[in-house]
Amino acid sequence: MNSKKYFFVFLAVLAVTVIAIIGAGMSCGNQADPAKRGKYLVDLGGCNLCHTPKLMTSLGMELDRSRLLSGHPQDGTVSEYTAEAINEEGWVTKSNFHLTQWSGPWGVSFAANLTPDEITGIGAWSEDAFIETMRTGRHLGSGRRIQLPMPWDNFAKLTDDDLRAIFVYLKSLKPIKNSVPAPIPPGEAEISLSE
Ligand code: HEC
Repeated sequence: MNSKKYFFVFLAVLAVTVIAIIGAGMSCGNQADPAKRGKYLVDLGGCNLCHTPKLMTSLGMELDRSRLLSGHPQDGTVSEYTAEAINEEGWVTKSNFHLTQWSGPWGVSFAANLTPDEITGIGAWSEDAFIETMRTGRHLGSGRRIQLPMPWDNFAKLTDDDLRAIFVYLKSLKPIKNSVPAPIPPGEAEISLSE
């Protein structure tokens, strides 16, 4: 009799534990909190690799977290690699120290400011405009084509909910005023450099 009672108590405890674990698992999978899910996707998607300036520390290169996702630094010069890549016969793809500026057959591109600054970032963008940009590879969904190495076609396959979560996370970042230059088409880089 007693052992039967213990068995039912054991079953009840087990059921509560399982429910608690499933509950915790769901919040770890951060489905419920779009900003958390967005951060998870941004970390996984490597957005910081190109959109966050870097620092050289005693441990090597690290993200400059004070400028998280603020794009190519406006005070950074157009690196000398640009001229070198443009002048070479046969294209060489190169980047600057921060990995925010890239030169190659497409010209020179500069990683965008993804913080919610109204003027220089995505602060004035609507959610739909962001989703359309990531889906079509065009600025705001209908503007100019977004150049390499932005891997928009990989992200275009994300669900609406995931793209929305990325947008919610980006909007939650500290706004940073940083005006990123427009891309320079191939052949025009030298003109821009000498200005
Ligand atoms: C390998 C480098 C790289 C990675 C990784 C990357 N980007 Fe980009 N991204 C760029 C560059 C360079 C540009 C600017 C291209 C241009 O100006 O045509 C850009 C442009 C953009 C734009 C367009 C901005 C505009 O004004 O139209 C958005 C939005 C964007 N990136 C979001 C993201 C997000 C979100 C991630 C991660 C999920 C990401 N990027 C990952 C390099 C990258």
